[in-house]
Amino acid sequence: MLLGVNIDHVATLRNARGGDEPDVLTAAKICEECGASSITTHLREDRRHIKDNDVSNIKRIIKTNLNLEMAVTDEMQAIALKYKPHSVCLVPEKRQEVTTEGGLDAASQIQRLSEFIVPLKNAGIEVSLFIDPAREQVEAAAKSGAQFVELHTGSYSLAYKTINESKEFKKLKEAAKIAHDFGLGVNAGHGLNYKNVIRMHDIPGLYELNIGHSIISRAVFVGLEQAVNEMLELVK
Ligand code: PXP
Repeated sequence: MLLGVNIDHVATLRNARGGDEPDVLTAAKICEECGASSITTHLREDRRHIKDNDVSNIKRIIKTNLNLEMAVTDEMQAIALKYKPHSVCLVPEKRQEVTTEGGLDAASQIQRLSEFIVPLKNAGIEVSLFIDPAREQVEAAAKSGAQFVELHTGSYSLAYKTINESKEFKKLKEAAKIAHDFGLGVNAGHGLNYKNVIRMHDIPGLYELNIGHSIISRAVFVGLEQAVNEMLELVK
């Protein structure tokens, strides 16, 4: 399994004072040098953490893949076509949410997604849909023309070590199987940390995990390099 590191929260900290510290480019470089397979950033409509020039600068300086999380809007599509990240992950976005709350409802907008995805794929950008681990969402992702799904691990992460853990884990495992049967690549992420990440090894064929908050939080105490290396050891 590969590890993509989401560095949004380095930008959150930077923006708290409006200056340029901590530098997101340095963070991207450190993650890359440790062996992260991609650097993930979410350019939100309100630009609350990552800004447009962060995306262009990260794309310019990293050698590994840039994975751009974004909403299904014309504005974001134009930005993706301009900066040409390696991949985009389409996410739902609500203005007031603290973080991405649920998966994209692909099942209710297959036509819209199909049209949205075509120019991205034509530009050589790999397209992933961030969805809840449910059969209808996986099927819709396949019908929309996406090449990957990223399974939302938030409910599993919250249920970890509770009576609901096995139920939530089973949903992920089944959804991954369905996605693979459709020929989709399967990534996973949201809420994963140094403990609950272990069970991701029990989902056959997971390609990449996208992890942000737990790594950046640990980096406050041990430094980013060590935080990424520790997670890489668990993910490899
Ligand atoms: N994947 C997606 C699509 C996300 O929106 C996020 C949160 O930005 C993550 C992964 C990473 O989640 P976390 O910060 O909880 O590790």
